[in-house]
Amino acid sequence: MCGILGILSSQSVAEKLLPEKLLEGLSRLEYRGYDSAGIATVHDAQIDRRRAAGKLKNLKALVNDNPLKGTIGIGHTRWATHGAANITNAHPHSSPDVAVVHNGIIENFSVLKQSLQAKGVTFESETDTEVVVHLITDFLKNKLSPLHAVQQTLQQLQGAFALVILFRDYPNLMIATRRGSPLVVGCHQDELFVASDALALVGWARQLCYLDEGDVAVLEKTETGLSTHLYNSDARPVERTWRPSQLSAAAVTKADYSHFMLKEIFEQPAVLSDSIQSLIGAEGTTIDLPDLKLDPGLIAQVFIIACGTSYYAGLVAKYWFEKYFQVPTQVEIASEFRYRQPCLDKKALYLFLSQSGETIDTLAALSLVKQNNCKTLAIVNVPESSIARQSDQVFHTLAGPEIGVASTKAFTAQLVNLLGLGLYLKGDHNQGLCQELRLLPRLVSEVLNDQSTYQHVSLKLAHAQHALYLGRGLQYPIALEGALKLKELSYIHAEGYAAGELKHGPIALIDGQMPVVVLAPYDEWFEKTLSNMQEVLARNAQVIILTDEIGAEHVHRQVTNKSTLEMIILPKVASFTSPFVYTVAVQLLAYYAALHKGTDIDQPRNLAKSVTVE
Ligand code: AGP
Repeated sequence: MCGILGILSSQSVAEKLLPEKLLEGLSRLEYRGYDSAGIATVHDAQIDRRRAAGKLKNLKALVNDNPLKGTIGIGHTRWATHGAANITNAHPHSSPDVAVVHNGIIENFSVLKQSLQAKGVTFESETDTEVVVHLITDFLKNKLSPLHAVQQTLQQLQGAFALVILFRDYPNLMIATRRGSPLVVGCHQDELFVASDALALVGWARQLCYLDEGDVAVLEKTETGLSTHLYNSDARPVERTWRPSQLSAAAVTKADYSHFMLKEIFEQPAVLSDSIQSLIGAEGTTIDLPDLKLDPGLIAQVFIIACGTSYYAGLVAKYWFEKYFQVPTQVEIASEFRYRQPCLDKKALYLFLSQSGETIDTLAALSLVKQNNCKTLAIVNVPESSIARQSDQVFHTLAGPEIGVASTKAFTAQLVNLLGLGLYLKGDHNQGLCQELRLLPRLVSEVLNDQSTYQHVSLKLAHAQHALYLGRGLQYPIALEGALKLKELSYIHAEGYAAGELKHGPIALIDGQMPVVVLAPYDEWFEKTLSNMQEVLARNAQVIILTDEIGAEHVHRQVTNKSTLEMIILPKVASFTSPFVYTVAVQLLAYYAALHKGTDIDQPRNLAKSVTVE
C-alpha cells in the first residue's frame, strides 16, 4: 500500500540531486500499489512540495517543470483510503511549519479534527493524516521542541501508522516514528534514510536499523556530521541493532524480462532448489529443521491463518497435513478469524502465512492468539517484517524480494516450507518424498520451457468475460489460486471450484462462451475430474485441460467431443508434489491472458502488494 521515503544528506551539492533521488526511491516503492505521489523539501526557510495524482510519471513531469531543492526531503506514494486519489489528498501534507508523510490509518482522526476545527484550524484535505500536521504545528506554537511536539502528538493518536516529519524551522532535522506499520532507518557515509520498505534503500544504505513498535527516530545533521537518536514508546533513549543490508540491486531490476512477474515466475526453479536444499541438503534424504523448537507430540492440531494467495497455500497444506501426515488442520481467513471470537486451543499450533509479513488482518490475528498465550509460528518472506518479529518462531521462505503484486515465487516457496513443516510434525523422514522434492526444479523448468503453448492457449481466456477453474484434492486450492491470478492480472471474473461442486450450482453458468480450466494430473482424482470435464464439454464450454501424458491418453480415448477442447501437457509428477507444477502453469496462463489484454501486470489496478489497512 502506501510507501514512505525520507533522505537527509550532508552534502550541499546534493541540493538539486536530492529531489531526483527521492523520485528514484519512490519508483522502487511503486510495486506496493498507489494512486498518487508527492515529495517535500525544506529549503530557504520554507517547506516546498510537489504532489500529483496517478502514476509517478506525473509527479516526475511536475518536478521537471517546476524543480525543487534541498538537502532534506520526504516522499510518499499514497493508496487512497480516506478521500479520493487526487492532488489535495496526496502526501506530504503540510502547514507552513511542518510536512508529514504517513502510512496506515489514524483511527480517531474525526474526533481530533473536530477539536482542531473548534480551535479555528482549517483543513484542506479529506485525509486522516492532516490532523497529525496540525497537532504537531499546534505543539510547536506552544514552544515545544520538535521531538516533544511529536511525542505529545503520538499520545493523542490511535491506530496503526508510520510517520516521517519535516520542520520548516529545523532544516537539518527529520523525525520518524512507527506504531503497527514498518519503518527502517538506513545510513551510508553522507546520508541518512528512512523508508517503509528496505527495498527503497537498495544500493544506498549499507546499514539498516528496523524501528521497534512505538519508537521515535531523530535524524539530524549537526556541525559534527549526521546522527540518529532513538527513543522508545516511553520516550526513553534506546539503542537498536544496526545490520548490513542483505538486499542486492538485482532484486529491484527486471533484468531482461518484460515484467517483474515474469522474472519471478522464472526464478521459481532456483527458489525451489534453494528452499528444498535448505530442508534436505544437496544430496540429503531426510528433512532437517534444526531451528524449529516445537515438540510435535504436544501439538494436537494446526490452525493456518492467512489472506489471499497465502490462504490458498494454507489450503494445500491442509490436504498434505491431514491426508499424508494425519495432523488435524484448520485453515482460516485472517479477517474472519479475528472477529469471530475463535475458541483458542492451547494444544494447537497457530501458523501464520504471509509473503509480506505486514498484512494487517494476519498481524491482528497473530496478536489475538499471542494475547491468549497459544503457540505461534510464522512463515514469512520478509525477515524483518512485523509478523516475523511478533511471532514466537519464524520459518523463513527463501523466495527473495517479490516485486510483482501478484504473488508467484513466494507462494511456491511457502508450499516448500509447509511440506517441510508437515514432515517435521509427523516425525517422518520420508526418503521417497525427498527424492520427489529434488525433482521439482527440473520439472518446473520444463513447464517454463513451453512458453508458446501458454501464449497461444491463454487467448481463450483473454477474450472471455468470465472463467471457471476446476480441481479436486490437491488441485482444488490450485484452481482457486489460478482463478485469483487471472482476476488480479487481467480483470476477468474468474472463480475456482472443487470439481465435485460443479453440479451444485456453477454448471448453470456454462455456455459456449465460458472458458473452463480443468486441473487434472493423472492421479487418484483424475477419473472423477474427467467426468466433470465431460459435463461442461457436453454444454459446449471452452475447456483447457492441464494434465500429463497418461492423462492425455485417457482424454484421447474417452472424450469424443474435442472441438472446444485445448490440452496442455505437463510433466508427470507425483500426486503429492503436483501443486508446484500445476501452479506454475496457471501462473503462465494468467500472465499471458493479461499480456494479450494489455493490463498493468506488475501493478494491477486497485491492488497493493502488502495490505496494511483493513
Ligand atoms: C496474491 O497474488 C495477492 N497479491 C494477495 O492475495 C496476497 O497474497 C494477500 O494480500 C496476502 O498477502 P501476504 O501473503 O503478504 O500476507
